[in-house]
Amino acid sequence: MSEERPQLIVDGKRLDGRDFDELRPIKIEAGVLRRADGSCYLEMGRNKIIAAVYGPREVHPRHLQDPSRAVIRYRYNMAPFSVEERKRPGPDRRSIEISKVSREAFEPIIMKELFPRSGIDVFVEVLQADAGTRTACLNAASVALVDAGVAMKGIITAVAVAKVDGQLVLDPMKEEDNFGEADVPFAFLIRNSRIESIALLQMDGRMTVDEVKKGLQMAKRGAMQIYEMQRDAIMRKYHTEEVE
Ligand code: CDP
Repeated sequence: MSEERPQLIVDGKRLDGRDFDELRPIKIEAGVLRRADGSCYLEMGRNKIIAAVYGPREVHPRHLQDPSRAVIRYRYNMAPFSVEERKRPGPDRRSIEISKVSREAFEPIIMKELFPRSGIDVFVEVLQADAGTRTACLNAASVALVDAGVAMKGIITAVAVAKVDGQLVLDPMKEEDNFGEADVPFAFLIRNSRIESIALLQMDGRMTVDEVKKGLQMAKRGAMQIYEMQRDAIMRKYHTEEVE
């Protein structure tokens, strides 16, 4: 790789001027797609994501049906134009992995027993990527699932923590992800406005045990801020519908 490594922290600030524990600007809108049962548009920094939920509905092919509960499917997809170097369309190892771990984050919280023989399909499309797309997609998918009225035990809220220039930072952007020492995406199950458990935890790079503990606290504080915005987006949608 010929790209020169930039200094990521200058005078105690990050390249985009953020504090270490500051999220990127976030925008969330629920119910943006007419033909989906639930949907969401979300921006997290320069990431732009669309999530669409279909179901509970009949499962095709039928042999995939489960007579006792709903089958959850989650497809993460990156548009070819979402990244700097055009991405080849279609699934690859990375998108299959992200789809799998994201589905596993939702599996325990969706009340699948309520919808036997049916399927719940979650599609997340990355329109523009700038690091942290798996976490941004989880946040969008959560709002879309609520918008679809799918019964859940709580909501999933996700954010990553990174180590850059020896410093822990919240919600890394592309340069920090590329040139940092570690990247740790977290997803939490939030129930009754409290973090109840970790739904996803991955790690790329190295951190000490102490850094992981501190990173977890930083991620939890960030997640609570995102959670408020997810709630807000859902409230806004239903409030508007009432008025119309
Ligand atoms: O997006 P996330 O951080 O969850 O996953 P990643 O595999 O750590 O990817 C980090 C970033 O690399 C993505 O958000 C994209 O901005 C970029 N990327 C890319 O430019 N081309 C790809 N084929 C895959 C990722």
